[in-house]
Amino acid sequence: MMEKQQGSNIKVIIICLLAAIAGLMFGLDTAVIGGAKQFVVEHFHLSMTGDAIIVGALVSAITFGAAIGSILAGWLAARLGRKTSLQIAALIFILGELISAFSPNIGILIAARAFLGLAVGVASYATPLYLAEIAPRKIRGSMISFYQFMITSGLLLAYLSDTYFAYIYRDDPSISWRWMVGVVAIPAIVLFLGVLFIPRSPRWLASKGRKEEALTVLEEIRPTKGDAAVELGNIEESLKERQNGWGLFKNNSNFRRSVGLGMLLQIMQQVTGINIILYFAPEIIKMAGFTDPSEQMWGSVLVALVNVLATFIAIAVVDRWGRRPILITGYLIMAFAMAIMGLLIYVGTGGYVAIAMLVLFIIGFAGSAGPLAWVLCSEIQPAKGRNFGATISTATNWIMNLILTFTFLSLIAALGDANTFWLYAVLNLICIALIWLYVPETKGTSLEQIERNLMKGKKLRDIGEDIDAEKAEAKA
Ligand code: BGC
Repeated sequence: MMEKQQGSNIKVIIICLLAAIAGLMFGLDTAVIGGAKQFVVEHFHLSMTGDAIIVGALVSAITFGAAIGSILAGWLAARLGRKTSLQIAALIFILGELISAFSPNIGILIAARAFLGLAVGVASYATPLYLAEIAPRKIRGSMISFYQFMITSGLLLAYLSDTYFAYIYRDDPSISWRWMVGVVAIPAIVLFLGVLFIPRSPRWLASKGRKEEALTVLEEIRPTKGDAAVELGNIEESLKERQNGWGLFKNNSNFRRSVGLGMLLQIMQQVTGINIILYFAPEIIKMAGFTDPSEQMWGSVLVALVNVLATFIAIAVVDRWGRRPILITGYLIMAFAMAIMGLLIYVGTGGYVAIAMLVLFIIGFAGSAGPLAWVLCSEIQPAKGRNFGATISTATNWIMNLILTFTFLSLIAALGDANTFWLYAVLNLICIALIWLYVPETKGTSLEQIERNLMKGKKLRDIGEDIDAEKAEAKA
Protein backbone atom coordinates (compact mmCIF):
# COMPACT_ATOMS: atom_id res chain seq x y z
CA MET A 1 0.00 0.00 0.00
CA MET A 2 2.77 2.35 1.09
CA GLU A 3 4.72 1.39 -2.05
CA LYS A 4 1.70 2.01 -4.25
CA GLN A 5 1.28 5.45 -2.68
CA GLN A 6 4.93 6.32 -3.29
CA GLY A 7 4.69 5.03 -6.85
CA SER A 8 1.69 7.18 -7.65
CA ASN A 9 3.32 10.20 -6.00
CA ILE A 10 6.48 9.78 -8.07
CA LYS A 11 4.38 9.52 -11.22
CA VAL A 12 2.54 12.73 -10.33
CA ILE A 13 5.81 14.48 -9.59
CA ILE A 14 7.28 13.50 -12.97
CA ILE A 15 4.13 14.63 -14.77
CA CYS A 16 4.18 17.94 -12.91
CA LEU A 17 7.87 18.38 -13.69
CA LEU A 18 7.28 17.97 -17.41
CA ALA A 19 4.35 20.39 -17.41
CA ALA A 20 6.28 22.91 -15.33
CA ILE A 21 8.90 23.27 -18.09
CA ALA A 22 6.34 25.74 -19.42
CA GLY A 23 7.23 27.87 -16.38
CA LEU A 24 10.89 27.70 -17.35
CA MET A 25 9.98 29.07 -20.79
CA PHE A 26 8.00 31.89 -19.13
CA GLY A 27 11.12 32.92 -17.20
CA LEU A 28 13.58 32.42 -20.07
CA ASP A 29 11.62 34.29 -22.69
CA THR A 30 10.69 37.25 -20.53
CA ALA A 31 14.23 37.76 -19.20
CA VAL A 32 16.36 37.00 -22.23
CA ILE A 33 15.75 40.40 -23.80
CA GLY A 34 17.38 42.13 -20.82
CA GLY A 35 20.87 41.16 -21.94
CA ALA A 36 20.12 41.07 -25.68
CA LYS A 37 18.65 44.58 -25.80
CA GLN A 38 21.90 46.56 -25.98
CA PHE A 39 23.25 44.41 -28.84
CA VAL A 40 20.00 44.64 -30.79
CA VAL A 41 20.13 48.41 -30.40
CA GLU A 42 23.72 48.49 -31.62
CA HIS A 43 23.11 46.10 -34.51
CA PHE A 44 20.08 47.98 -35.90
CA HIS A 45 21.78 51.37 -35.36
CA LEU A 46 19.25 52.56 -32.82
CA SER A 47 19.83 54.70 -29.76
CA MET A 48 18.59 53.83 -26.26
CA THR A 49 17.35 57.36 -25.65
CA GLY A 50 16.61 58.64 -29.19
CA ASP A 51 14.58 55.53 -30.05
CA ALA A 52 13.12 55.04 -26.60
CA ILE A 53 9.73 54.05 -28.02
CA ILE A 54 11.18 51.31 -30.22
CA VAL A 55 13.37 50.01 -27.40
CA GLY A 56 10.37 50.15 -25.05
CA ALA A 57 8.32 48.15 -27.57
CA LEU A 58 11.11 45.60 -27.90
CA VAL A 59 11.19 45.06 -24.14
CA SER A 60 7.46 45.07 -23.44
CA ALA A 61 6.17 43.29 -26.58
CA ILE A 62 6.24 39.97 -24.72
CA THR A 63 4.21 41.27 -21.76
CA PHE A 64 1.69 42.72 -24.19
CA GLY A 65 1.46 39.40 -26.06
CA ALA A 66 1.15 37.54 -22.76
CA ALA A 67 -1.82 39.66 -21.69
CA ILE A 68 -3.61 38.72 -24.93
CA GLY A 69 -2.42 35.09 -24.77
CA SER A 70 -3.78 34.67 -21.25
CA ILE A 71 -7.21 35.80 -22.46
CA LEU A 72 -7.18 33.41 -25.44
CA ALA A 73 -5.89 30.65 -23.18
CA GLY A 74 -9.17 30.40 -21.28
CA TRP A 75 -11.02 29.47 -24.43
CA LEU A 76 -8.25 27.22 -25.68
CA ALA A 77 -7.89 25.27 -22.43
CA ALA A 78 -11.64 24.77 -22.18
CA ARG A 79 -12.14 23.71 -25.79
CA LEU A 80 -9.00 21.70 -26.50
CA GLY A 81 -7.85 20.93 -22.97
CA ARG A 82 -4.89 21.90 -20.81
CA LYS A 83 -2.51 19.43 -22.45
CA THR A 84 -3.22 20.54 -26.02
CA SER A 85 -2.92 24.18 -24.89
CA LEU A 86 0.56 23.45 -23.57
CA GLN A 87 1.46 21.74 -26.84
CA ILE A 88 0.30 24.75 -28.83
CA ALA A 89 2.25 27.03 -26.48
CA ALA A 90 5.37 24.89 -27.01
CA LEU A 91 5.03 25.19 -30.79
CA ILE A 92 4.62 28.97 -30.56
CA PHE A 93 7.69 29.10 -28.30
CA ILE A 94 9.80 27.20 -30.83
CA LEU A 95 8.55 29.20 -33.82
CA GLY A 96 8.70 32.59 -32.07
CA GLU A 97 12.23 32.00 -30.83
CA LEU A 98 13.49 30.94 -34.24
CA ILE A 99 11.83 33.90 -35.98
CA SER A 100 13.36 36.20 -33.33
CA ALA A 101 16.82 34.75 -33.91
CA PHE A 102 16.62 35.21 -37.68
CA SER A 103 14.81 38.58 -37.72
CA PRO A 104 16.05 40.70 -40.61
CA ASN A 105 14.85 43.92 -38.99
CA ILE A 106 13.67 45.35 -35.69
CA GLY A 107 10.00 45.34 -36.73
CA ILE A 108 9.98 41.57 -37.25
CA LEU A 109 11.88 41.07 -34.00
CA ILE A 110 9.29 43.07 -32.05
CA ALA A 111 6.44 41.19 -33.76
CA ALA A 112 8.11 37.84 -33.01
CA ARG A 113 8.48 38.82 -29.35
CA ALA A 114 4.79 39.73 -29.15
CA PHE A 115 3.96 36.38 -30.80
CA LEU A 116 6.09 34.64 -28.18
CA GLY A 117 4.14 36.52 -25.55
CA LEU A 118 1.03 34.62 -26.69
CA ALA A 119 2.72 31.38 -25.63
CA VAL A 120 3.85 32.87 -22.33
CA GLY A 121 0.25 33.94 -21.67
CA VAL A 122 -1.15 30.51 -22.55
CA ALA A 123 1.51 28.77 -20.44
CA SER A 124 0.98 31.04 -17.44
CA TYR A 125 -2.70 30.16 -17.56
CA ALA A 126 -2.70 26.49 -18.41
CA THR A 127 0.25 25.31 -16.29
CA PRO A 128 -0.95 26.18 -12.77
CA LEU A 129 -4.43 25.02 -13.72
CA TYR A 130 -3.15 21.68 -14.95
CA LEU A 131 -0.95 21.23 -11.88
CA ALA A 132 -3.84 21.97 -9.52
CA GLU A 133 -6.00 19.43 -11.32
CA ILE A 134 -3.37 16.68 -11.34
CA ALA A 135 -1.68 17.02 -7.93
CA PRO A 136 -3.09 15.23 -4.86
CA ARG A 137 -4.32 17.84 -2.41
CA LYS A 138 -1.67 17.10 0.24
CA ILE A 139 1.12 18.31 -2.05
CA ARG A 140 -0.89 20.62 -4.32
CA GLY A 141 0.64 23.81 -2.92
CA SER A 142 4.19 22.50 -3.36
CA MET A 143 3.50 21.36 -6.92
CA ILE A 144 2.17 24.73 -8.03
CA SER A 145 4.98 26.51 -6.17
CA PHE A 146 7.32 24.31 -8.16
CA TYR A 147 5.99 26.09 -11.24
CA GLN A 148 7.24 29.38 -9.75
CA PHE A 149 10.59 27.69 -9.11
CA MET A 150 10.77 26.94 -12.83
CA ILE A 151 9.89 30.56 -13.72
CA THR A 152 12.68 31.86 -11.51
CA SER A 153 15.13 29.25 -12.84
CA GLY A 154 14.28 30.49 -16.33
CA LEU A 155 15.06 34.06 -15.30
CA LEU A 156 18.42 33.01 -13.87
CA LEU A 157 19.36 30.84 -16.85
CA ALA A 158 18.53 33.69 -19.20
CA TYR A 159 20.87 36.06 -17.33
CA LEU A 160 23.62 33.47 -17.39
CA SER A 161 23.21 32.52 -21.04
CA ASP A 162 23.08 36.21 -22.06
CA THR A 163 26.32 36.79 -20.19
CA TYR A 164 27.89 33.78 -21.86
CA PHE A 165 26.99 34.83 -25.41
CA ALA A 166 27.94 38.45 -24.73
CA TYR A 167 31.37 37.16 -23.75
CA ILE A 168 31.80 34.57 -26.54
CA TYR A 169 30.75 37.00 -29.28
CA ARG A 170 32.19 40.11 -27.67
CA ASP A 171 33.68 41.13 -31.04
CA ASP A 172 30.48 40.60 -32.97
CA PRO A 173 27.35 41.99 -31.32
CA SER A 174 25.33 41.29 -34.47
CA ILE A 175 25.61 37.55 -33.73
CA SER A 176 25.46 37.53 -29.94
CA TRP A 177 21.84 38.70 -29.60
CA ARG A 178 20.68 36.16 -32.19
CA TRP A 179 22.12 33.37 -30.08
CA MET A 180 20.65 34.84 -26.90
CA VAL A 181 17.09 34.87 -28.23
CA GLY A 182 17.44 31.70 -30.32
CA VAL A 183 19.04 29.26 -27.91
CA VAL A 184 15.89 29.10 -25.78
CA ALA A 185 14.27 27.10 -28.60
CA ILE A 186 16.11 24.06 -27.16
CA PRO A 187 14.15 23.91 -23.88
CA ALA A 188 11.02 24.71 -25.90
CA ILE A 189 11.59 21.53 -27.91
CA VAL A 190 12.06 19.62 -24.63
CA LEU A 191 8.74 21.06 -23.45
CA PHE A 192 7.01 19.95 -26.64
CA LEU A 193 8.35 16.42 -26.30
CA GLY A 194 7.67 16.27 -22.55
CA VAL A 195 4.05 17.31 -22.95
CA LEU A 196 3.47 14.41 -25.36
CA PHE A 197 3.88 12.09 -22.38
CA ILE A 198 1.64 13.76 -19.82
CA PRO A 199 -1.97 12.63 -19.38
CA ARG A 200 -4.92 14.92 -19.93
CA SER A 201 -6.37 16.59 -16.84
CA PRO A 202 -9.00 14.28 -15.30
CA ARG A 203 -11.15 17.29 -14.44
CA TRP A 204 -11.09 18.48 -18.03
CA LEU A 205 -11.88 14.97 -19.31
CA ALA A 206 -14.81 14.68 -16.92
CA SER A 207 -16.07 18.11 -17.99
CA LYS A 208 -16.18 16.79 -21.57
CA GLY A 209 -18.12 13.70 -20.50
CA ARG A 210 -15.09 11.44 -21.02
CA LYS A 211 -15.60 9.68 -17.71
CA GLU A 212 -13.79 6.46 -18.49
CA GLU A 213 -10.65 8.25 -19.59
CA ALA A 214 -10.79 10.49 -16.50
CA LEU A 215 -10.98 7.41 -14.31
CA THR A 216 -8.07 5.74 -16.10
CA VAL A 217 -5.89 8.82 -15.52
CA LEU A 218 -6.92 9.06 -11.87
CA GLU A 219 -6.18 5.37 -11.31
CA GLU A 220 -2.69 5.97 -12.66
CA ILE A 221 -1.92 8.89 -10.35
CA ARG A 222 -3.77 8.05 -7.13
CA PRO A 223 -2.72 5.39 -4.60
CA THR A 224 -5.81 3.16 -4.93
CA LYS A 225 -8.69 2.56 -7.35
CA GLY A 226 -11.00 3.55 -4.51
CA ASP A 227 -9.32 6.97 -4.16
CA ALA A 228 -9.64 7.46 -7.90
CA ALA A 229 -13.34 6.60 -7.90
CA VAL A 230 -14.08 8.92 -4.95
CA GLU A 231 -12.22 11.78 -6.62
CA LEU A 232 -14.08 11.25 -9.88
CA GLY A 233 -17.36 11.26 -7.96
CA ASN A 234 -16.45 14.59 -6.35
CA ILE A 235 -15.40 16.06 -9.67
CA GLU A 236 -18.67 15.00 -11.29
CA GLU A 237 -20.61 16.45 -8.42
CA SER A 238 -18.90 19.81 -8.86
CA LEU A 239 -19.44 19.65 -12.63
CA LYS A 240 -23.17 19.10 -12.46
CA GLU A 241 -23.83 22.51 -13.88
CA ARG A 242 -22.32 23.17 -17.27
CA GLN A 243 -19.08 25.20 -17.54
CA ASN A 244 -20.50 28.63 -18.25
CA GLY A 245 -18.18 31.21 -16.80
CA TRP A 246 -19.74 34.33 -18.21
CA GLY A 247 -23.30 33.22 -17.44
CA LEU A 248 -22.26 32.31 -13.92
CA PHE A 249 -20.46 35.62 -13.52
CA LYS A 250 -23.60 37.53 -14.52
CA ASN A 251 -25.95 35.56 -12.30
CA ASN A 252 -24.01 34.32 -9.33
CA SER A 253 -22.64 36.76 -6.78
CA ASN A 254 -20.61 34.04 -5.07
CA PHE A 255 -18.71 33.43 -8.28
CA ARG A 256 -18.21 37.17 -8.73
CA ARG A 257 -16.56 37.14 -5.31
CA SER A 258 -14.07 34.42 -6.24
CA VAL A 259 -13.27 36.16 -9.54
CA GLY A 260 -12.71 39.38 -7.60
CA LEU A 261 -10.45 37.54 -5.16
CA GLY A 262 -8.38 36.11 -8.03
CA MET A 263 -7.92 39.60 -9.46
CA LEU A 264 -7.02 40.96 -6.04
CA LEU A 265 -4.39 38.24 -5.50
CA GLN A 266 -2.69 39.00 -8.81
CA ILE A 267 -2.90 42.78 -8.34
CA MET A 268 -1.33 42.30 -4.92
CA GLN A 269 1.41 40.13 -6.42
CA GLN A 270 2.32 42.82 -8.92
CA VAL A 271 2.09 45.86 -6.61
CA THR A 272 4.80 44.32 -4.46
CA GLY A 273 7.02 45.93 -7.11
CA ILE A 274 8.73 42.66 -8.07
CA ASN A 275 9.07 43.33 -11.77
CA ILE A 276 10.34 46.81 -11.17
CA ILE A 277 12.99 45.36 -8.89
CA LEU A 278 13.85 42.71 -11.51
CA TYR A 279 13.85 44.93 -14.61
CA PHE A 280 15.64 47.78 -12.93
CA ALA A 281 17.98 45.79 -10.66
CA PRO A 282 21.10 47.14 -12.42
CA GLU A 283 19.83 50.72 -12.07
CA ILE A 284 18.93 50.17 -8.42
CA ILE A 285 22.38 48.73 -7.82
CA LYS A 286 23.86 51.82 -9.52
CA MET A 287 21.71 54.13 -7.39
CA ALA A 288 23.14 52.27 -4.39
CA GLY A 289 26.59 53.45 -5.43
CA PHE A 290 27.94 50.59 -7.57
CA THR A 291 28.78 52.29 -10.83
CA ASP A 292 30.84 49.62 -12.56
CA PRO A 293 28.64 47.78 -15.16
CA SER A 294 30.15 44.40 -14.22
CA GLU A 295 29.16 44.96 -10.58
CA GLN A 296 25.65 45.70 -11.77
CA MET A 297 25.59 42.56 -13.89
CA TRP A 298 26.73 40.34 -11.04
CA GLY A 299 24.27 42.07 -8.75
CA SER A 300 21.49 41.06 -11.15
CA VAL A 301 22.68 37.45 -11.26
CA LEU A 302 22.72 37.43 -7.46
CA VAL A 303 19.15 38.74 -7.38
CA ALA A 304 18.03 36.04 -9.85
CA LEU A 305 19.82 33.31 -7.89
CA VAL A 306 18.22 34.36 -4.61
CA ASN A 307 14.86 34.38 -6.42
CA VAL A 308 15.34 30.71 -7.31
CA LEU A 309 16.64 29.59 -3.92
CA ALA A 310 14.03 31.42 -1.88
CA THR A 311 11.22 29.76 -3.84
CA PHE A 312 12.26 26.56 -2.04
CA ILE A 313 11.10 28.13 1.21
CA ALA A 314 7.59 28.33 -0.19
CA ILE A 315 7.75 24.82 -1.67
CA ALA A 316 8.86 23.42 1.67
CA VAL A 317 6.34 25.13 3.92
CA VAL A 318 3.26 25.96 1.84
CA ASP A 319 1.39 22.73 2.60
CA ARG A 320 2.43 22.76 6.29
CA TRP A 321 2.25 26.35 7.50
CA GLY A 322 -0.50 27.33 5.10
CA ARG A 323 -1.01 30.18 2.69
CA ARG A 324 -2.04 33.03 4.98
CA PRO A 325 0.88 33.14 7.47
CA ILE A 326 3.39 32.79 4.64
CA LEU A 327 1.80 35.61 2.66
CA ILE A 328 1.62 37.96 5.63
CA THR A 329 5.25 37.31 6.59
CA GLY A 330 6.40 37.80 2.98
CA TYR A 331 4.58 41.11 2.56
CA LEU A 332 5.98 42.38 5.89
CA ILE A 333 9.50 41.57 4.71
CA MET A 334 8.90 43.28 1.36
CA ALA A 335 7.42 46.41 2.98
CA PHE A 336 10.43 46.62 5.31
CA ALA A 337 12.97 46.13 2.52
CA MET A 338 11.30 48.73 0.28
CA ALA A 339 11.12 51.26 3.14
CA ILE A 340 14.82 50.84 3.97
CA MET A 341 15.81 51.09 0.29
CA GLY A 342 13.88 54.36 0.13
CA LEU A 343 15.64 55.58 3.25
CA LEU A 344 19.08 54.71 1.92
CA ILE A 345 18.38 56.51 -1.32
CA TYR A 346 17.01 59.48 0.65
CA VAL A 347 20.11 59.89 2.81
CA GLY A 348 22.31 59.21 -0.19
CA THR A 349 24.24 56.19 1.09
CA GLY A 350 23.71 52.64 0.04
CA GLY A 351 26.50 50.23 -0.59
CA TYR A 352 26.12 46.70 0.63
CA VAL A 353 23.14 47.50 2.85
CA ALA A 354 21.16 48.45 -0.27
CA ILE A 355 22.13 45.18 -1.93
CA ALA A 356 21.15 43.33 1.25
CA MET A 357 17.73 45.00 1.13
CA LEU A 358 17.32 44.09 -2.53
CA VAL A 359 18.07 40.47 -1.64
CA LEU A 360 15.75 40.60 1.37
CA PHE A 361 12.96 41.89 -0.83
CA ILE A 362 13.44 39.02 -3.28
CA ILE A 363 13.41 36.50 -0.43
CA GLY A 364 10.13 38.01 0.76
CA PHE A 365 8.60 37.77 -2.71
CA ALA A 366 9.89 34.38 -3.78
CA GLY A 367 8.92 32.84 -0.45
CA SER A 368 5.37 34.19 -0.56
CA ALA A 369 3.47 36.21 -3.17
CA GLY A 370 5.47 34.84 -6.11
CA PRO A 371 4.26 31.26 -5.89
CA LEU A 372 1.21 31.75 -3.71
CA ALA A 373 -0.67 34.09 -6.04
CA TRP A 374 -0.60 31.28 -8.62
CA VAL A 375 -1.37 28.59 -6.05
CA LEU A 376 -4.42 30.38 -4.67
CA CYS A 377 -5.74 31.50 -8.06
CA SER A 378 -5.83 27.92 -9.24
CA GLU A 379 -7.62 26.76 -6.08
CA ILE A 380 -10.39 29.24 -5.41
CA GLN A 381 -12.55 29.06 -8.54
CA PRO A 382 -15.53 26.70 -8.72
CA ALA A 383 -15.13 23.97 -11.36
CA LYS A 384 -17.81 25.33 -13.65
CA GLY A 385 -16.25 28.78 -13.73
CA ARG A 386 -12.62 27.77 -13.35
CA ASN A 387 -11.60 28.63 -16.90
CA PHE A 388 -13.23 32.03 -16.75
CA GLY A 389 -11.92 32.84 -13.26
CA ALA A 390 -8.36 31.79 -14.06
CA THR A 391 -8.44 33.73 -17.34
CA ILE A 392 -9.43 36.91 -15.57
CA SER A 393 -6.82 36.55 -12.83
CA THR A 394 -3.99 35.62 -15.21
CA ALA A 395 -4.82 38.50 -17.55
CA THR A 396 -4.93 40.82 -14.51
CA ASN A 397 -1.39 39.70 -13.64
CA TRP A 398 -0.06 40.63 -17.09
CA ILE A 399 -1.98 43.88 -17.44
CA MET A 400 -0.80 45.06 -14.00
CA ASN A 401 2.75 44.04 -14.92
CA LEU A 402 2.52 46.17 -18.07
CA ILE A 403 1.03 49.18 -16.26
CA LEU A 404 3.51 49.14 -13.38
CA THR A 405 6.67 48.72 -15.44
CA PHE A 406 5.50 51.41 -17.85
CA THR A 407 4.74 53.92 -15.10
CA PHE A 408 7.80 53.30 -12.95
CA LEU A 409 10.07 55.83 -14.65
CA SER A 410 7.36 58.51 -14.73
CA LEU A 411 6.64 57.79 -11.08
CA ILE A 412 10.29 58.35 -10.23
CA ALA A 413 10.26 61.57 -12.28
CA ALA A 414 7.14 62.80 -10.48
CA LEU A 415 7.80 61.65 -6.90
CA GLY A 416 11.56 61.18 -6.74
CA ASP A 417 13.46 57.94 -6.09
CA ALA A 418 12.97 57.66 -2.34
CA ASN A 419 9.26 58.50 -2.39
CA THR A 420 8.65 55.92 -5.10
CA PHE A 421 10.16 53.20 -2.95
CA TRP A 422 8.18 54.41 0.06
CA LEU A 423 5.02 54.33 -2.01
CA TYR A 424 5.70 50.67 -2.75
CA ALA A 425 6.40 50.01 0.92
CA VAL A 426 2.97 51.41 1.75
CA LEU A 427 1.33 49.33 -1.00
CA ASN A 428 2.87 46.21 0.53
CA LEU A 429 1.49 47.17 3.93
CA ILE A 430 -1.99 47.73 2.48
CA CYS A 431 -1.79 44.22 1.00
CA ILE A 432 -1.27 42.77 4.48
CA ALA A 433 -4.58 44.23 5.59
CA LEU A 434 -6.27 42.88 2.44
CA ILE A 435 -4.81 39.41 2.99
CA TRP A 436 -5.99 39.45 6.56
CA LEU A 437 -9.51 40.37 5.48
CA TYR A 438 -10.04 38.35 2.32
CA VAL A 439 -7.53 35.59 1.62
CA PRO A 440 -8.62 32.06 2.61
CA GLU A 441 -6.46 29.30 4.04
CA THR A 442 -6.76 26.52 1.46
CA LYS A 443 -4.04 24.23 2.82
CA GLY A 444 -5.12 20.57 2.59
CA THR A 445 -8.72 21.36 1.60
CA SER A 446 -10.04 19.69 -1.56
CA LEU A 447 -10.98 21.92 -4.49
CA GLU A 448 -14.54 20.58 -4.26
CA GLN A 449 -14.82 21.58 -0.58
CA ILE A 450 -13.51 25.07 -1.33
CA GLU A 451 -16.18 25.32 -4.01
CA ARG A 452 -18.98 24.16 -1.69
CA ASN A 453 -17.94 26.77 0.90
CA LEU A 454 -17.82 29.53 -1.68
CA MET A 455 -21.18 28.68 -3.17
CA LYS A 456 -22.79 28.48 0.27
CA GLY A 457 -21.90 32.13 0.66
CA LYS A 458 -19.18 31.74 3.30
CA LYS A 459 -16.91 34.73 3.80
CA LEU A 460 -14.01 34.64 1.34
CA ARG A 461 -11.45 34.23 4.08
CA ASP A 462 -13.35 31.16 5.31
CA ILE A 463 -13.82 29.26 2.04
CA GLY A 464 -10.79 27.10 2.75
CA GLU A 465 -12.33 25.56 5.88
CA ASP A 466 -12.25 21.79 5.62
CA ILE A 467 -15.53 20.69 7.13
CA ASP A 468 -14.88 16.98 6.52
CA ALA A 469 -11.53 17.19 8.27
CA GLU A 470 -13.09 19.08 11.18
CA LYS A 471 -15.78 16.41 11.52
CA ALA A 472 -13.16 13.69 11.48
CA GLU A 473 -11.18 15.52 14.15
CA ALA A 474 -14.25 16.03 16.31
CA LYS A 475 -15.01 12.29 16.11
CA ALA A 476 -11.45 11.28 17.02
C1 BGC B 1 5.29 36.87 -11.50
C2 BGC B 1 6.10 37.60 -12.49
C3 BGC B 1 7.53 37.77 -11.97
C4 BGC B 1 8.11 36.46 -11.52
C5 BGC B 1 9.42 36.70 -10.85
C6 BGC B 1 5.94 35.57 -11.16
O1 BGC B 1 5.17 34.86 -10.24
O2 BGC B 1 3.97 36.67 -11.97
O3 BGC B 1 5.50 38.83 -12.78
O4 BGC B 1 8.34 38.32 -12.95
O5 BGC B 1 7.22 35.80 -10.64
O6 BGC B 1 9.94 35.68 -10.11
